[in-house]
Amino acid sequence: MDIRPIGVFDSGVGGLTVVKQVMKVMPQENIVYFGDTARVPYGTKSKEAVTKYSLQNVRFLQTKDVKAIIVACNTASSNSLEAMRASTDIPIFGVVVPGVEAALRATKNGRVGVIGTAATVRSGAYERMICGANPQIQVFSKACPLFVPLAEEGWTDNEVSRLAAQNYLTELTQKGIDALVLGCTHYPLLKRCIGTAVGDAVKLVDPAKATAQQVMTFLAERGQRNETQGEGERRFYLSDTTDTFGFLCQKALKRRYEAQIIDIETY
Ligand code: DGL
Repeated sequence: MDIRPIGVFDSGVGGLTVVKQVMKVMPQENIVYFGDTARVPYGTKSKEAVTKYSLQNVRFLQTKDVKAIIVACNTASSNSLEAMRASTDIPIFGVVVPGVEAALRATKNGRVGVIGTAATVRSGAYERMICGANPQIQVFSKACPLFVPLAEEGWTDNEVSRLAAQNYLTELTQKGIDALVLGCTHYPLLKRCIGTAVGDAVKLVDPAKATAQQVMTFLAERGQRNETQGEGERRFYLSDTTDTFGFLCQKALKRRYEAQIIDIETY
């Protein structure tokens, strides 16, 4: 048994959707979350900048004595996973591989849509891995950058977000996709309006669920699950004050938590 916390980081508050799945699958685990709200968005930045930020985030989480780190950010997972793994012995899990596996299970007609930030789409990570696993599958990717500020603003299902979803996604539905990977941790917050835009025939794939399962299996195999009775402790850190943190906590985790502000540039 290992009661050390699981570290989770994201470029902002979108990673709370991953924390939600971790809490669901492993309620006893202690969690330390870091949201880099001072430097969000990562999705519009270069690979070099995303890697520099990701390495600092890993160093910060290391100071919290974490037993594993979940990179709850598709942009960081698709651009900087290797660099992070090379920087530490702590096991690091990205969201892309579990997302790919979930997409392969979800599609029946072999036409898969992937939406994410510009940096995630530019990296080609989803496309490469999906086609690497099954070359028959056709992948249609689309960057939807406006979804991130909409989610951070708490505009998760209003006329503006619905219009944005329609504009971004019509092109993908016209390709006949039957599965759509939500390749950005902010997007599950807009699940309802994304679902409305693509229609019931398209299955929405949230990599967070599969990621939480993967981490649980990994810890269980190594005898590192926290088997203490009761709910684990959750601690939240941000790199800048974020007015919508409370609201988004309530929406994603059904509870309000306090967040502590830290200076990530010192790590
Ligand atoms: N949450 C990040 C991701 O999953 C996107 C937000 C950003 O652009 O920083 O890719």
